[in-house]
Amino acid sequence: MRTAIEPLVVHVDIDDPSLNTDIDQITPADAEVLARLATGRELVFDVGSYVGGSALTMLEAGVDHVICIDACIGLPNILTPRPRSFFTDLLVRRLEKYKDQVSIWVALSSIGVVVRSEMADLVFIDADHHYESVKEDIETWYPVVKKGGILCGHDFDAYLEDCDPALMEKYTKTFPTEDGATAYYDYGPPNNRHYGVIKAVTEAFGRPSVDETIWWVEKP
Ligand SMILES: C[S@@+](CC[C@H](N)C(=O)[O-])C[C@H]1O[C@@H](n2cnc3c(N)ncnc32)[C@H](O)[C@@H]1O
Repeated sequence: MRTAIEPLVVHVDIDDPSLNTDIDQITPADAEVLARLATGRELVFDVGSYVGGSALTMLEAGVDHVICIDACIGLPNILTPRPRSFFTDLLVRRLEKYKDQVSIWVALSSIGVVVRSEMADLVFIDADHHYESVKEDIETWYPVVKKGGILCGHDFDAYLEDCDPALMEKYTKTFPTEDGATAYYDYGPPNNRHYGVIKAVTEAFGRPSVDETIWWVEKP
């Protein structure tokens, strides 16, 4: 007997005004920096695409091909709760104009371990922002970048030396929830600072280049 499964694609009305609020997670200022880094690149991996903000930014900047990777689990408090298929469909539709230049992998970012080394001109990391996850994403995706290519990411809000060490420690640790599960912070005060990103990137690369909240390193 067949088991009913959720269809992969549902039909989302992209003209629904409730979707036309600021759903992209990349600000115009960050998008400008990302577009500058992406200009002239051929193959790019967008790790954590959500509903396409960063991917569209890079496609509009003239990138030849963007591979979008997202587990399509959504974000807390934005357009949720929704089935995963909702996010997949919204991503597909928003990128439709560039369909010959886009691949969408509905997958965890750890899929990078099976991607051939040194094939990407640029990898943009913007998936799970917890310290352990960002660290793992850097370890997974740095080998995928070509020599002379760029590894970059989102939400580097401050340099490590400008962060309060106690807040850094608190907001990069996991903590138990009331029902015994393990939870973690995406960010903490002041101004929703992404401590996990700052710590993982600094440990990996020392002082990366930063403009707005985009960090990047060029692979030697
Ligand atoms: C901050 S959003 C990305 C925003 C997007 N880059 C933009 O410009 O609008 C983070 C995304 O990462 C995805 N995500 C979280 N953890 C993930 C994981 N381990 N692997 C793949 N995707 C993940 C979520 O589903 C979410 O869509």
